[in-house]
Amino acid sequence: MHVKIDRGSSVPIYRQISQFLRTQILQGGLPEGYRLPPERALAKTLGVNRTTVMNAYAELKADGLVHGRVGDGTRVAAVARETPARQRDVQAIRWSDFARLSIRPSDDEVRKLLALSEEQGVIVLSVGFPALEAIPLRLLQHAAGEVFEQRGASALFYAPAEGVSSFREALAGLMANRGASLGPEEIVVTSGSQQALDIVARTLIEPGDTVVVEEPTYMGALQCFRAAGARLMSVPVDGEGMRTDLLASLLGRCSPKFIYTLPTFQNPSGSVMSLERRMRLLDLAYRFRVPIVEDDVYGELWYDEAPPPPLRALDRHGYVLYAGSFSKALCPGLRVGWIAGPRSLTRRLVQVKQLMDLQAPTLSQMIIERLLVSGEYARHVETARKRYAPRRDAMEKALKRHARGWAEWSRPGGGFYYWCRVETSLPIAALAAEAAEKKVSILPGSTCTAVEAAENRIRLSFSCAKPEEIEEGITRLARVVRRASARAHAVSPPVDATRPMI
Ligand SMILES: Cc1ncc(COP(=O)(O)O)c(C=O)c1O
Repeated sequence: MHVKIDRGSSVPIYRQISQFLRTQILQGGLPEGYRLPPERALAKTLGVNRTTVMNAYAELKADGLVHGRVGDGTRVAAVARETPARQRDVQAIRWSDFARLSIRPSDDEVRKLLALSEEQGVIVLSVGFPALEAIPLRLLQHAAGEVFEQRGASALFYAPAEGVSSFREALAGLMANRGASLGPEEIVVTSGSQQALDIVARTLIEPGDTVVVEEPTYMGALQCFRAAGARLMSVPVDGEGMRTDLLASLLGRCSPKFIYTLPTFQNPSGSVMSLERRMRLLDLAYRFRVPIVEDDVYGELWYDEAPPPPLRALDRHGYVLYAGSFSKALCPGLRVGWIAGPRSLTRRLVQVKQLMDLQAPTLSQMIIERLLVSGEYARHVETARKRYAPRRDAMEKALKRHARGWAEWSRPGGGFYYWCRVETSLPIAALAAEAAEKKVSILPGSTCTAVEAAENRIRLSFSCAKPEEIEEGITRLARVVRRASARAHAVSPPVDATRPMI
């Protein structure tokens, strides 16, 4: 208890003490039964005469706020506090006066999908989670044991905001394997790559800035760029990645803060940017002096052939900020990602990171470091590829068998997704809702676009469902589409066969 005394005040000191205690008691800061410090002790602490404290306590007693018994000291009495009396006048708070509470419809859709994918018996083709059974539990358990043995309690202690230094060295080694030579001081460890994107957004974007994104793109990035106040301009993606021909004319018209790209196994299109386009993109960035934010969370999950090197490896002038993650190839729950940026920016990135959560989890960093250094991570990634390739093939087969005639797609060479164009009489949201009734979750394409184009697209993920579930899921989805089209034919007049279809 810290009683404040103003020796220059005209209010006598005993009254200052009693007033302070009165306020504390009436506001509930000193609860009923609380024992006040003995008079002698409080007098000593405050540097006042014992009688001063006695007078203060006597005043409180007279007001019925405290009572005292010999041998039990002075205790706070049961009093009618001020707050309950006032509570009657307290108006209900309207949080919408303080914060924007509205949720974009697409965010709400995603929330519902996440809830659906957790329901028992649902075949999950919507979210891009890794397979639960692909998480190398024993390997992680063993690595955790070694970390505790070798690093002791420091594994559970605070670590530098930029990341555990030996882990950053290991990450520099991983980046070297990906063709990018950089030092540990150019790396900031983050709590997943979602945070890496958020840190970049908070560091670079000022409200009203333009950011160029791909169309379609990763929804989580759109959310944090928008939250930072960015205006989004989009450039379509085709089978060779971002359309750099269209980007060139866009850059001629606006000067964006940065270009966000997923060149390798793009989420959601699965597209891989060709080496030629990568070089062209870098060339445009240099020409128009626009930084590039490269999101490469799927790059190591290739099933046919290794993709071209990341932009970060091809960049010769420090224009590329690279976001990586262990969420897809290893597991998302350790929450470890990183940003590889130019040295001149990393200090600022670390400051922003520190504001958010001080640091990424120490234990997670140390566990992954062990896997990287021992070579077990590289071996695990090979195993993961072997697990996901058959799922990709199962989806290809199921689509060929059940979706020809109502869907178009191209087979991704890696990553987790099929990006399908769907011809159905149902709006995509209704298709997703009917599929959900049949216990299949799919992702409506509108959640993956910056301009919410009403194109008939869905994203189908093959990462979490087993091959036989994928077959069953696509069978059910096909049934939903066929039934909807039968319903539509039953109500609409027959199409004139000679009239051209537009
Ligand atoms: C393209 C892309 N970037 C970033 C993330 C964020 O992943 P995490 O924060 O788990 O690393 C995801 C997750 O799905 C993603 O698909």
